[in-house]
Amino acid sequence: MCGIIGCIGRGDETLDTLVHGLEKLEYRGYDSAGIALLDESLSTCKTSGKIADLREKLDGQALTGEVGIGHTRWSTHGPPTDENAHPHADCTDDVAVVHNGIIENYQPIRDELAAAGHQFTSDTDTEVVPHLIESNLSEGLSPEAAFRETIGRLEGSYAIAAIIEDAEGLFVARNDSPLVVGLGEGASTDSDRGEFFIASDVPAFRDFTGDVIYLEDGEFARLDGGLTVTDSQGNRVDKEAHTVEWDAEETGKSGYDHFMLKEIHEQPRALRQCLRGRVEEQTASVDIGDLADLNPAGVQFVACGTSYHAAMYGAQLFRDAGVPAQAYLASEYATSPPPVGNTLVVGISQSGETADTLAALREAKNRGARTFTLTNTVGSTMDRECDHTLYIRSGPEIGVAATKTFAGQLTALNLFSMATVERSSTRRNVVPALRELPGNVQQILDTSAAEDVADYYEDAQSYFFIGRGHQYPVALEGALKLKEISYEHAEGFAAGELKHGPLALVDEDTPVFAMAIGDDEKARKTVGNIKEVEARDAPVVAVTDGQSDAERYADHVLEIPETHPRAAAVLGNVQLQLVAYHIADQLGRSIDKPRNLAKSVTVE
Ligand code: F6R
Repeated sequence: MCGIIGCIGRGDETLDTLVHGLEKLEYRGYDSAGIALLDESLSTCKTSGKIADLREKLDGQALTGEVGIGHTRWSTHGPPTDENAHPHADCTDDVAVVHNGIIENYQPIRDELAAAGHQFTSDTDTEVVPHLIESNLSEGLSPEAAFRETIGRLEGSYAIAAIIEDAEGLFVARNDSPLVVGLGEGASTDSDRGEFFIASDVPAFRDFTGDVIYLEDGEFARLDGGLTVTDSQGNRVDKEAHTVEWDAEETGKSGYDHFMLKEIHEQPRALRQCLRGRVEEQTASVDIGDLADLNPAGVQFVACGTSYHAAMYGAQLFRDAGVPAQAYLASEYATSPPPVGNTLVVGISQSGETADTLAALREAKNRGARTFTLTNTVGSTMDRECDHTLYIRSGPEIGVAATKTFAGQLTALNLFSMATVERSSTRRNVVPALRELPGNVQQILDTSAAEDVADYYEDAQSYFFIGRGHQYPVALEGALKLKEISYEHAEGFAAGELKHGPLALVDEDTPVFAMAIGDDEKARKTVGNIKEVEARDAPVVAVTDGQSDAERYADHVLEIPETHPRAAAVLGNVQLQLVAYHIADQLGRSIDKPRNLAKSVTVE
């Protein structure tokens, strides 16, 4: 996790630019933060707490300098204290370092440096970096050589930025953690002056530039007025600049109280973007370019959290089409990897950076599988490392809780299965349902009774969510969304499993949200499960298109328009997102930044 930022060439604006960037990166971690600026000498300000606390602390200090780095932290080594906040310094305060990732071999390095007399002031793995640079400088190496030599000693994942008192500019390196360079006013890949930025993610500097270059694993960059990128051997690398299309306004809250609510409301637009140019209703055809030729003999999905729920849904689509498919929790995949053969291994990830998913994809690749990612993030590590990519095109998602990207994932999975393995008869039913999806989502957003339902049940002891078939992953997702932002206990179950144990927990304080879609056998069985909980006095909230008689047994109803069950999964989920949001809001929770969580989980 953690977010890093750095800039040079912004003159008097340097400090403000860094703080602004940290605010934009706060979704990556927010238990402590800090900044270091280089003027005649290095000055640092850091604190536990959020960026607002850092701002307050900075008010009392006169930090100056035109080169700087900043960090917002999500703890991995050591608690969130002032001492453990980044930047970290060497013994003489001549070197300052910010780091995202985990240095796996930090303990032997720390022991070695401590034995040589270095004084450590934090519990972090990161602190070995400035001390190693100091040690290399004391052996007569130039600042750049000292930095490179230091990075060469590290094992693990890192995006690192350092400033060194006797050297102009910033030194950065990456391995297994995201790092982008922003080219601001007057800057280009070969200019020798201008505004340059580095950050874990583009929103950090998007207000100043949309021109970026993505650093690859093993690359170094020096920003000292100009920009020099080199490989691990020190050879110069020519980098291509890309322009990101998201504008700065798209990363603001646009009048909503929370990013999460804004992102829930952005779903119609996000879904239109996902479908644009990819479906043709007249001919019921789907166009995802060359990806349609993949012809997988089997599909293994790997993903975490919300993306794993999308993976479960995707696996059903392929199985329904007769292709063996299975969803795996990415963190478990490598512990007992299944045979890959001619299988396509598909990593689903909003960020494209989740360490568990990356590790599973790399494991699959090492075993000879073709890899594919379904992601929201162009230029992410998964995008670059996988053989194939399908973008969900949801736009930036800032709220920690995934909302519009889950809708985008389900929609893109439909495109993927229809283009690769499904029959035209399926496409004829599903394509029109997808075309109607943005309008149907809008209808729910305009008419939902979710806020009243949330009002009614905000004091419940525990919340259950049940669903079958395509609605089962949605039940799991509804529970995850509620627990992560409300901190209340919530569980999702396959509707048929309730009677095999969990039913013992059901009583009048356990509202059960039941996905009752359609009027086929699945729906009838789910209505049977609704009756089971109703008979145990549990309040029932039916999420229904009105086709079954679920309403008869429900205390509350959340309606969705009638559509294909695959599209209904997206619609039902919108109702559950709204319930989770309003319960958390009524409980006064930190909705966009729930405690203990971070948006992009770049550690295993
Ligand atoms: C929950 C949530 C997480 C992520 C998970 C994977 O709302 O957002 O469960 O889905 O950490 O993240 P990505 O999709 O970026 O790989």
